[in-house]
Amino acid sequence: MKTEVISTARREDAGTTIGAELIQNGELVAFPTETVYGLGANGLDGEAVNRIFEAKGRPNDNPLILHIAKKSDVKDLWAHVPKIANTLMDTFWPGPLTMIFNKADEVPYEVTAGLETVAIRMPSDKTARLLIQKAGVPIAAPSANRSGRPSPTTAKHVLDDMDGRIPLILDGGPCRYGVESTVLSLVGEPTILRPGAITREMLEAVIGPVRLAPSILEPLGAREVAASPGMKYKHYAPDADVHVIEGEPKAAAKRIRSLYYEYESEGKRVAILGTDQTMPSYRNLTAYSLGDRMEPETLCANLFTLLRDVGSENDVILAEGVDTRETGLAFMNRLLRAAGFQRETV
Ligand code: TXA
Ligand code: MG
Repeated sequence: MKTEVISTARREDAGTTIGAELIQNGELVAFPTETVYGLGANGLDGEAVNRIFEAKGRPNDNPLILHIAKKSDVKDLWAHVPKIANTLMDTFWPGPLTMIFNKADEVPYEVTAGLETVAIRMPSDKTARLLIQKAGVPIAAPSANRSGRPSPTTAKHVLDDMDGRIPLILDGGPCRYGVESTVLSLVGEPTILRPGAITREMLEAVIGPVRLAPSILEPLGAREVAASPGMKYKHYAPDADVHVIEGEPKAAAKRIRSLYYEYESEGKRVAILGTDQTMPSYRNLTAYSLGDRMEPETLCANLFTLLRDVGSENDVILAEGVDTRETGLAFMNRLLRAAGFQRETV
């Protein structure tokens, strides 16, 4: 299959029309969102949804998110709309918040991987919304990477993983946030299953206490598998072996320098992912800045691109950890998973 790439800067209207037709015909379309690129199919067509799992090589017990273009569409996809969800929708939709609640009968079990709950989000990206509107159905879409790889934040990342496997990629340029949406379960106490740009602090300001699933900064315990199937798989893994060094920035940078020389003396190609604040400590070493420590959203926006680019040219990546406040939590959640939890604190 030939994979066509259409730039939305030049041909948004034509691109979304062609994309919507493909979706209606049960085919797959990769499209930009404000978080990462999605790989979409008609969310009401179980057979089309199965193609997503094939193209990604995704384990079929990992459920998908349904993307909608208007808030009122949740009524058809959830058994009912809890009051708290209305409050959250009014505050955070359209945007990077996914909510999970009991599914309506119309939602196929292919989307939910057999669960009685379904995840829904309304993206703010204009192209994504146009595509959903024109398709006239909710679009089921995971991140558009091969399973296990870092999520794509540019159309080139999607092409690298999906060339020849899907008919169309809509190229909307780099994604604004660069990490996937916050996933909040509303079944029982509100619980964050995956942190994102809508932070725990932002949610709590609107609805009061929100729990964090324990697996956010740790490997998944056996008891949790049922609540968050996606978290049990290997995630975001670049080609290189990633190590995370946490602690006071100066001390962490010192430890990273000494590890750098150790790996280099073993003949390994080593690179550092530091921050603006510590870059002066890495002069003459192969080092890239993730951004400003005081603005973790910049770290999020750069993480997956650097993991892909730097990871493909090196054997070892030494990365700095940061505070887990606000969007620092989303950053550390992705980084620790990319590292398979190889971490040390100085
Ligand atoms: O930002 C995003 O959310 C992107 C863009 C494309 O919208 N999508 C995305 O999808 O990240 P995906 O499939 O890569 O991640 C969805 C996560 C997985 O961890 C999955 O296990 C979880 O949401 N999930 C989906 N439905 C669920 C459900 N009913 N119960 C528990 N977890 C669910
Ligand atoms: Mg994913």
